Amino acid sequence: MEVGYAAWMKLDLDRTLVTRAQIDARIGELAGDLDRALHGVTDRGESVAMVAVMTGALVFAADLIRRLPLKMSLHLVSASSYPGPATESVGEPVVGWLGSSGGPSDLAGRHVLVVDDILDSGRTLRAVTRMVKEAEPASVQTVVLLDKAERRAVEFEADHVGFAIPDEFVVGYGLDYDGYYRNVPEICTLRREVIDGGSAGGGA
Ligand code: IMP
Ligand code: MG
Repeated sequence: MEVGYAAWMKLDLDRTLVTRAQIDARIGELAGDLDRALHGVTDRGESVAMVAVMTGALVFAADLIRRLPLKMSLHLVSASSYPGPATESVGEPVVGWLGSSGGPSDLAGRHVLVVDDILDSGRTLRAVTRMVKEAEPASVQTVVLLDKAERRAVEFEADHVGFAIPDEFVVGYGLDYDGYYRNVPEICTLRREVIDGGSAGGGA
C-alpha cells in the first residue's frame, strides 16, 4: 500500500515501527477475535457498548468499528495524564464521559468493549475501566492497538492487543506528541531533537 508522508512529517519523524499494511491486517484479525469473544452475548440479541478513550483511540476506533459487524453503540470518554509537552504520564489520569454519547446510565447491564490506542503505565485503562464498572455493566473487555508491556507501573493487562512494541515513544495513527502528529499515517518514532527541543506537548 502506498502511504504518503508530508514533508514536515519527514523532518520530525525517525522510523516507522508499524506500517499501514500491518495495522490493517491486524485490525482484521482483532475484529475477528472480538466478534468471537462477544458473539455469545449478541446471539442473545444484546448489543455491545464500545467505549473509546479520546483522543488517542479516535483513529483506531474509527477503523475498528467498520470491521466489527456487531450491533453496538459508541461512547466516548476523555482521559489526560500528561501535564504539557511530555512523553511520560504523571500521577492518576483525569477521566470523564464526553458529550451525550451515553455515559453511565446507558451501560448498566451491557457488555462493554473499552478501546484505547496504547497501554503504557496502565493507569489510564485502569481508571477508565474503574469508571465503566461503576455503571454496573454485565461485562467489560479491553482492546488496545499497542502495548508497551515493559513500562507497566500498575497491574493491568488488556484482553486484546494489536502489537507489542518496545519502550519507545511513538506517534501517528491517532497518537500524539503535544497534540500533533495524530494524522501521521503509520506508527512512528520521533527524532530525539523534536522531543528534547519540545515545544510540542502531551495529549491523551
Ligand atoms: P498510560 O496511562 O501510561 O498507560 O498511558 C496511556 C495513555 O498515554 C495512552 O492512552 C496514550 O494517550 C498516552 N501514551 C502512552 N504512550 C504513548 C506513546 O508512546 N505515544 C503517544 N501517546 C502515548
Ligand atoms: Mg490516550
